[in-house]
Amino acid sequence: MSETQLFEGAGDEEMRRPLMEKVVAISFIVSVLATIGLGVTYWVGGQPQVEGGFLFLALGGIGVGIVSWGKYLVPQGPYVQERHEMKSAPEDIDAMHASLSRGLGQVGRRKFLLRLLGGAVGVFGLINLFPFLRSLGPVPGKSLFVTNWKHGSELVTSDGRVVLASDLEVGGVMTVFPKGFEGEPTNAIDQVILVRAADYNLVTRPGRETWGPQGYLAYSKVCTHAGCPVGLYQELTQQLLCPCHQSLFDVLTGATNVFGPAPRPLPQLPLYIDSSGVLRSQSGFNEPIGPGFWERGA
Ligand code: FES
Repeated sequence: MSETQLFEGAGDEEMRRPLMEKVVAISFIVSVLATIGLGVTYWVGGQPQVEGGFLFLALGGIGVGIVSWGKYLVPQGPYVQERHEMKSAPEDIDAMHASLSRGLGQVGRRKFLLRLLGGAVGVFGLINLFPFLRSLGPVPGKSLFVTNWKHGSELVTSDGRVVLASDLEVGGVMTVFPKGFEGEPTNAIDQVILVRAADYNLVTRPGRETWGPQGYLAYSKVCTHAGCPVGLYQELTQQLLCPCHQSLFDVLTGATNVFGPAPRPLPQLPLYIDSSGVLRSQSGFNEPIGPGFWERGA
């Protein structure tokens, strides 16, 4: 390529530059508007086809803008200039001044385009954070720490029948709830598996001397692995089995996990028997129930 052709190429680029700057700017603006449209559509209930169209325009706008910028606004070169006599002719000096002023304009426009690009990417990220956060569901609040068990709660079956100390033989098992919350749609966290493992007071761990009157032991039914209901009791081995991934919990030692992926024991509910022979809880659980939320350790 001759020197003349090279300069002609550079001249063409100069002529094309204003047009391409407009193309780049419009692409970014389209992207911003489409992203806002996407956010609004999602906010008012969502419509997959419309959201898809907006997403296409938002990402397409950024893509077209960046590609056009790289292809038409970044100097492509190579530009070769013969070195002549070192002293500049007056017309060369004028040309240089003109070129410098033109460059200042380009720098200003480049800043503008950079801001538009930042705006397009920023708005896109911000608005798409919405669906992501909303998809995480409602904030759990204290529900993972607090159940409806409290001091004096009567143990009742799912149909509301109060559980008496005489109800189970040794080896018997049933699912119980705190009175007043049986049948509630949100009572899954309150489910307790009640086992009668002996006919005398049982101590599962130091500090739990009064928790197992007449051999009654109560444990949260929500598996500490992934939250499945621990519903199977093997009387022979005195173990509770979670059917989901076969975790085994030893009833006599505070439901310590002896097999399977559960990371910690099932929390134990302290019980007492009142003067009428009704089973009640001494308090709520002394630790959060359910999956090892997360990595609390035993
Ligand atoms: S949920 Fe119980 S072992 Fe996985």
